[in-house]
Amino acid sequence: MAAYPYTRLRRTRQANWSRRLVRENTLTRDDLIWTIVLSDGADKRAPVPSMPGVDRVNLKEIVKEAQRARDLGIPAIALFPHVNPKFKDAAASEALNRNGLVPEAVRAVKAAVPEIGVIVDVALDPYTDHGHDGVMEGDTIKNDPTVELLAESAIILAEAGADIVAPSDMMDGRVGAIREALESGGYSDVMIMSYAAKYASGFYGPYRDAIGTASALKGDKRTYQMDPSNSDEALREVEQDIIEGADMVMVKPGMPYLDIIRRIKDEFAMPTYAFQVSGEYAMMMAAAQNGWLDEKRIIMESLMGFKRAGCDGVLTYFAPKAAEWLKH
Ligand code: PBG
Repeated sequence: MAAYPYTRLRRTRQANWSRRLVRENTLTRDDLIWTIVLSDGADKRAPVPSMPGVDRVNLKEIVKEAQRARDLGIPAIALFPHVNPKFKDAAASEALNRNGLVPEAVRAVKAAVPEIGVIVDVALDPYTDHGHDGVMEGDTIKNDPTVELLAESAIILAEAGADIVAPSDMMDGRVGAIREALESGGYSDVMIMSYAAKYASGFYGPYRDAIGTASALKGDKRTYQMDPSNSDEALREVEQDIIEGADMVMVKPGMPYLDIIRRIKDEFAMPTYAFQVSGEYAMMMAAAQNGWLDEKRIIMESLMGFKRAGCDGVLTYFAPKAAEWLKH
């Protein structure tokens, strides 16, 4: 490259047409996975106070949301349940209920909108009375018994029609156990999107309000979710999940971990996703509602950031908004 003044990097920025010609990354509706909170309540919709614009939706309403996603050109939705506390116990029994909220929602969506991809968390925390993602013995989260439950629960979700199961617990060996269970259960086409590098983050706060685990949670999740100080370890986590049979890998949260996404994409060249989590949504909406930041600009800029970092797609509560804007 020549030096200034022969090189003037501003030349290509002069006009919209030339900016378009040199644009390196694009964001389209194909990049969006809409994260939706389900509820087992009678109310069709109930707002989540710390996530302005996000409602929990019940079984009736979820079909409408899926239709809306299809009409907006969003390829897939991801479902997260808010479960009535009376269904929670130490063993997460409700996670194995074939007729539970999530299996019912998956069946309803697949029957009404078969062309949309349905992603479900394989997770125990919505169902445990202590709010952890595993079974406990005293104060410890037991890895191997948890993995067994997760594999059983994945089969129930696959049987209901889930296209992608997404283990979000960070137990060791869960992807392999789920893959094996899917193979032997006759669900070899079901994809696994692993929450491969999931950090013990403060940005999950509003989600825990949304699914009602915040008040129950005893302690924190640092014995299984990753330390935000670590980066090499994320590569080891992802490598394990790929070896065990993950089809897609995810980093979570999103915006504070763009460096991790880039390293993972460069190292493994796998389909790679970010989860722009509830706290990221909450802080951006709070600033937008105060008039401190321009809502549309920051949402689109944040989503482009994920593409630039190497993501193939983003799980985001902004999906319907972004899809609407990308349509025009
Ligand atoms: C746990 C799970 C969490 C989220 C999705 N699945 C939170 C946690 O680990 O406590 C967070 C999603 C969000 O913050 O938007 N299985």
